Amino acid sequence: MKRKRSVEDLDAQAKRVLVRVDFNVPLDGDRITDDTRIRAAVPTIRALQERGAKVILVSHLGRPDGKVVQELRLAPVAARLGELLDAPVATCPDVVGPEAQRAVEQLPAGGVLLLENVRFHAEEEQNDPAFAKQLASLADVYVNDAFGTAHRAHASTEGVAHHLPSAAGLLMQKEIDIMGRALLRPDRPFVAIVGGKKVSDKIGVLNNLIQRADRILMGGAMANTFLKAHALDIGKSYFEEDAIDVASSLIKEARAAGKVFLLPRDATVATAIDPNALHHVVPVTEVPPAQMIVDIGPETIAQYKQQLSDAKTVIWNGPMGVTEIEAFATGTRKIARALGKVQGTTIVGGGDSVAALEQAGLAGQITHVSTGGGASLEFLEGRDLPGIAALEDA
Ligand code: ADP
Ligand code: 3PG
Ligand code: MG
Repeated sequence: MKRKRSVEDLDAQAKRVLVRVDFNVPLDGDRITDDTRIRAAVPTIRALQERGAKVILVSHLGRPDGKVVQELRLAPVAARLGELLDAPVATCPDVVGPEAQRAVEQLPAGGVLLLENVRFHAEEEQNDPAFAKQLASLADVYVNDAFGTAHRAHASTEGVAHHLPSAAGLLMQKEIDIMGRALLRPDRPFVAIVGGKKVSDKIGVLNNLIQRADRILMGGAMANTFLKAHALDIGKSYFEEDAIDVASSLIKEARAAGKVFLLPRDATVATAIDPNALHHVVPVTEVPPAQMIVDIGPETIAQYKQQLSDAKTVIWNGPMGVTEIEAFATGTRKIARALGKVQGTTIVGGGDSVAALEQAGLAGQITHVSTGGGASLEFLEGRDLPGIAALEDA
């Protein structure tokens, strides 16, 4: 991937700057339950304010499908951003049109305006050229800081970049630099930890990491499909019948390339995915027929910690167990703690992985916690993301 122009090298002095941010945060009513993505956008916003720019923010929230959905208005986000910036954040009932134009005109130098949810317009997801042009007409330059939405070719992430001088924001740049370096020029040993649910969701990620990493450590329901490929009886454990062949060839590919490729040796099994279910630890060769694997076991944790002890680069995607249930979150938490001790670069990406990390209070011990869910997976696959590709090269 080519280096993209940075917001630092963009002439934004006293300009109107349209900044695409990813403020798609989890909400409980109008309460924001995790403001990580809002905090992550603050450095770019401040850098532009300091240059006397008019900062015009555009984001989506949820999936309103091209209609106005009251619950998905951005007002709670504007309020939280105002607290973080310690300055007022202007809002506007629409994204484009006369009201938006007026809101921009009224914005003082260094002022911040948050436009309404861009997905209230169907043209956004259609990447409609006329809509992209209307968005562009609000500003002199465009900055994309929405790494979390960079895998979408929408009007505000892709189309608009064709109409204005453009650059990557500081968050976007950090995501690309840290993850790009880990994939292309990693300090070694480079360990990849892959867990989560479906092999089929992550074939691309597995393929890419198997080629680039020295050691691959598998966990989660994902590992069950690999155990099945070894013809193990795993009782009622979740696995993907259709992905067994792929799993077999990935194991062969990794071993042929001389990589360390590890599957769990032992597991916590339970009678059901339920907080009250009875559970105990067994070797993976002895999963009782009526039980299911819900977490990696203590021997596996010890072995994986050993593999991490001299690592210089670690990329982790996908929890080691059913982290939604406290009793089955041990493996994920202990691996996260081991990651905190690694003397090197540690990177965690993926919606559920990051949520588990935050919940365990361990995010601060990781070098880079990606703000992308789907976007970081596509990045780890080695794909070009349209929201990045559309930006001007450095
Ligand atoms: P990410 O969002 O980080 O990419 P995934 O979406 O692939 O991760 O996987 C997370 C999901 O995998 C969680 O809902 C978790 O409960 C589930 N999971 C992990 N291990 C198991 C298991 N052994 N059995 C069933 N589900 C599991
Ligand atoms: C995300 O949360 O992964 C991004 O904000 C993208 O949202 P989307 O999957 O609705 O496009
Ligand atoms: Mg997920």
